Amino acid sequence: PAVVEPATTALPDWADLQQQVASCTACGLCQTRTQAVFGKGNPRARLMLVGEAPGAEEDKLGLPFVGKAGQLLDNMLSAIGLGQDDVFIANVLKCRPPGNRNPAADEIAACADYLRWQIAHVQPEVLVTLGRFAAHALLQSDAAIGALRRETHQYQGIPLFVTFHPAYLLRSPGEKAKAWQDLLAIRRALANKA
Ligand code: URA
Repeated sequence: PAVVEPATTALPDWADLQQQVASCTACGLCQTRTQAVFGKGNPRARLMLVGEAPGAEEDKLGLPFVGKAGQLLDNMLSAIGLGQDDVFIANVLKCRPPGNRNPAADEIAACADYLRWQIAHVQPEVLVTLGRFAAHALLQSDAAIGALRRETHQYQGIPLFVTFHPAYLLRSPGEKAKAWQDLLAIRRALANKA
């Protein structure tokens, strides 16, 4: 896998990074969160997935993707033979926006180094973004998911697949067939690298 070198500030070690996230006050969300949500899974995983932000359940439990969208994500991953230990899952924002509103640009900017550093540590062989905020954050693009998901992208030399957010799939189950195509492409990419 490509070696990811953070562009600016020195890369903190994993424990330090977790500590920084837990005590972060870089944006206003620190005043309304119950706790920051760092990520879950295996920091040595070959596949890393990036979502949007913690919701109510995640804020309460301190883990990403533990609510309804998380259950669908677990099912999607198990459909391609992947369990909790085969992936690392994080979000663009580590803290819950009140009422699950969309992340604001200043919040995304304040949180950007944490995600960049997480990717630099995990050094996944394949990255997957779930929904538009993750795609836009890692690709510096504002194109629609429908357009972005049709091609494979690169993030610092790592192949990056864009797919729908599971919460969107819960609202628009008609899109699940397209998400399945994305999952198959992700499975192929992992198999080709094995
Ligand atoms: N949606 C996300 O994007 N992330 C979570 O952790 C939960 C729901």
